[in-house]
Amino acid sequence: MGVLDGRVALVTGAASGLGAHSAQQFARAGAAVCCADLNDAGVAETVAAIHAAGGQALAAHLDVTREDQQQATVAATLDHFARLDILMTCAGVGESERIEALDLATFERTMAINVTGTFLSIKSAWEALGREGGSIIALGSVAGLIGGVGFSAYGASKAAVINLIRNLAVEGAPKKIRCNTICPSWIWTPMVDKTFQRLLPGAPPEAVRTYLARQAPLGRIGTPEDVANAAIFLASDASSFMTGREIVLDGGMTIGPSPR
Ligand SMILES: NC(=O)c1ccc[n+]([C@@H]2O[C@H](COP(=O)([O-])OP(=O)(O)OC[C@H]3O[C@@H](n4cnc5c(N)ncnc54)[C@H](O)[C@@H]3O)[C@@H](O)[C@H]2O)c1
Repeated sequence: MGVLDGRVALVTGAASGLGAHSAQQFARAGAAVCCADLNDAGVAETVAAIHAAGGQALAAHLDVTREDQQQATVAATLDHFARLDILMTCAGVGESERIEALDLATFERTMAINVTGTFLSIKSAWEALGREGGSIIALGSVAGLIGGVGFSAYGASKAAVINLIRNLAVEGAPKKIRCNTICPSWIWTPMVDKTFQRLLPGAPPEAVRTYLARQAPLGRIGTPEDVANAAIFLASDASSFMTGREIVLDGGMTIGPSPR
């Protein structure tokens, strides 16, 4: 028996990285999962992996900045699975630059996808989640909690997500909608690979991973499994007394200097 048996989850950004992995782990834990993303080929792979493992999944084409597509995704989930219990918002972009190179278009795109996209996902799912109570799990970042060079647009967007969730936790409590944020540090996904190709062109990925691992007292970077484990905890009744909070997954990076 899985801890999410009988539950239905909608995961945005499910074509790649943390969304793809968490969608598969939700299904393994017993949930039926609507996998939504702009990238249809990636979503098809995630859905195929869930089906191959014996789980239930549905593919949805979703640009999170489009309210009509957000509403259609929730409607398709309800048509297919008749309920919605869990929303995990993983769709996001990691674009940012130092202020001198940060143009308005990049800043606005980051805000549109990371903040407005999260808002629209939640707004579109709110009524369905409120029918029997539900769990919203947003992807923040340690970049929304601390500062760093070259991360102002991304960091501002993630700080906005964290406080959006804190506010909605208060509004959602009477409907038994719990709202929490997962704030990872570095987890090697296509987004992080792209970020370091931009920040450190030509640097071998293995050397970058070793450098990042040394920044954390626990001496490693995170894995998609670390995020999925936290997401399953937040989606399940094991976290029934938790709302409006962040789970920080950073190997101790934001606590203090690494001894390494
Ligand atoms: N990987 C990390 O180290 C890390 C750390 C902290 C936070 N995060 C956050 O976790 C989330 C997932 O990141 P990831 O590392 O898996 O990245 P990723 O690039 O592997 O996946 C992001 C997904 O979002 C989708 N997406 C982008 N724009 C979209 C849009 N407009 N509509 C719908 N889908 C869209 C992409 O197609 C992609 O499938 C992001 O919000 C990211 O900011 C990641």
